[in-house]
Amino acid sequence: MDLQKNNKSFQLGNTILPNNVFYSPLAGCSDYPFRMMSAKYGPGLIYCEMVKMDALIRNDPSTFRILDFHTSMHPIGAQLVGSKPEIAGKAARMVRDMGFDVIDFNCGCPVDKVTKDGSGSGMMKNPEKIGEIIANMVAAVDIPVTVKVRAGWDEESINAHEITKIAEQAGAAAIAVHARTRKQAYQGPANWDYITRCVEAADTIKVIGNGDLFSAEAAEQMLAQTGCDAVLVSRGTMGQPWIAEDILRRRENLPIIPRGIKECREALMEHFLYTLSYENERRIAIDMRRVGCWYIKKSTGAGNFRGLISKASSIEEIRALIRDFPIEES
Ligand SMILES: Cc1cc2nc3c(=O)[nH]c(=O)nc-3n(C[C@H](O)[C@H](O)[C@H](O)COP(=O)(O)O)c2cc1C
Repeated sequence: MDLQKNNKSFQLGNTILPNNVFYSPLAGCSDYPFRMMSAKYGPGLIYCEMVKMDALIRNDPSTFRILDFHTSMHPIGAQLVGSKPEIAGKAARMVRDMGFDVIDFNCGCPVDKVTKDGSGSGMMKNPEKIGEIIANMVAAVDIPVTVKVRAGWDEESINAHEITKIAEQAGAAAIAVHARTRKQAYQGPANWDYITRCVEAADTIKVIGNGDLFSAEAAEQMLAQTGCDAVLVSRGTMGQPWIAEDILRRRENLPIIPRGIKECREALMEHFLYTLSYENERRIAIDMRRVGCWYIKKSTGAGNFRGLISKASSIEEIRALIRDFPIEES
């Protein structure tokens, strides 16, 4: 067995990452407070939410805010979405100059608003252009460039394995493969065989498996079943920022730290405090409606809590709801 998959460190291009368990870009979710929570549990790499290359190069302030990070979040990756090879190098250089460790090119976003100009998963219909954009990024920066794809546009046009070769030739250090088609969006189980096909196509490029990783067992199974080099956890990080720690502990035959409702409530309070120190009051209320439900979903009081937090508007109301959340297990 490849020792690197068991050892803690992971080589990505010219960069050594602490391990091969990565946290996904999640638009509207993997914001600064989320990444503060994530960083505590030692993932090998944390990606920010995707940002548009166009918006970046016109110095859009909200784009810079999405890319804001704290030193504790290193190693950290920025993800760029767009379809214009002529601005890809400039956008990549801007991100590198901000201090990012890795740049990812998004070829997976399924949203119509993004695909309509050929961006996101729309790029899957134009593999040569993917190669062109990656090559321009690689030429512009001295940090690793990765690309994140879906299995294909639909089941009739599976081409992630072909894009693996194209990305490799263009100089990408890794390809992350979300094992669903664009047509599937986020529905139905991921088919990890699509990841295996990319592993088989890869020569020097690393393959990062993605899709349906909600537990340490699943991560271990994906690595063993597909032979991928690293795993990218996505929805599995929501409300369990410690999943990287779980995966790494299981690998070392250490017991996974049990976390019941009490610990989840404490983590939610911590996430709330990070949000409090970073966002304005209106934003905090909106964010906690989403975040609150992630952490306490296993509890009997979850439905009631969801109702209450969706109406709460003041910081003190939200703080009290979290503090007083009943801790009986369901
Ligand atoms: C709310 C949400 C936001 C997402 N945002 C992004 C994004 O910004 N960039 C990206 O490449 N993928 C994004 N994804 C896709 C995930 O990174 C991942 O590929 C997908 O959820 C499959 O993994 P999972 O089944 O383990 O959740 C998003 C997914 C969700 C659910």
